[in-house]
Amino acid sequence: MKISGEFNFLAAGRYFIALDMPQRESVIKFLRPDGPLTVRQKGWQEWLLEHFRRAKRIKKAAMAGRVFRMLYQSETIDIFPCFPETEIVDEVDVSFVWEGQTNRYQGPAYIQRRVEVFGNDTPLDSFNWDAIIEVQHYLWRSGVGLGSGAETWGPKNWCRTKQDKVRLADLSSLTQDKKRVGKRLNSAIRQKRRQQLERFQPVRCREHIDPYLAYIGEYLNRESLNQLWRAGF
Ligand SMILES: Nc1ncnc2c1ncn2[C@@H]1O[C@H](COP(=O)(O)OP(=O)(O)O)[C@@H](O)[C@H]1O
Ligand SMILES: [Mg+2]
Repeated sequence: MKISGEFNFLAAGRYFIALDMPQRESVIKFLRPDGPLTVRQKGWQEWLLEHFRRAKRIKKAAMAGRVFRMLYQSETIDIFPCFPETEIVDEVDVSFVWEGQTNRYQGPAYIQRRVEVFGNDTPLDSFNWDAIIEVQHYLWRSGVGLGSGAETWGPKNWCRTKQDKVRLADLSSLTQDKKRVGKRLNSAIRQKRRQQLERFQPVRCREHIDPYLAYIGEYLNRESLNQLWRAGF
């Protein structure tokens, strides 16, 4: 499939830019380009720090890309229950207006079905919590996990598909590093998630925050990670 032309900018996350592809009810996602680091107004220490942060970010996203490709090409792993319909395209050539400037991107991209992407403010009483556990258990069995607290505990970066299924929309935290996955399960990260949810959840859902985190934590913990990691199906 060849995808080229002009598309409307939809959103930019920490790692990806999403363009709208209304005719296919999909989005085109690719790594955010890195503009030049501004040295102005910044001391060299900040510049260096920013430089390393950025290098780390790019490395993580590239790793996640490799993991998704492995899952995508695998004959034994079925990614259909985990993610919204997503296709890898090796080369797109797209232009779009972002922050007042016309940009062009040429390179690999994901074409992903348009979904309702969840944030920290997505009401906890509006979706089935089980998918967040089931998808991660499934991935763990294949030696893949999530390396970001938001994704591990949800609901940020998860989504609701048109078929009303809860899936993981954001692919940038996929990792095969079990230690990194395990770290996201600890109580400090859970506590951080709790604070975020307390900040953003609607008032009527505040009472669900603790039961929600307890439920997720009951099934996603070190013990179940050790039990399921690379266990196969
Ligand atoms: N399938 C999708 N349908 C609709 N919007 C999407 C989709 N995927 C991503 N987006 C939008 O693009 C943003 C960034 O994409 P995401 O996959 O979360 O990457 P990042 O790792 O940069 O957060 C999301 O927060 C959301 O606003
Ligand atoms: Mg995201």
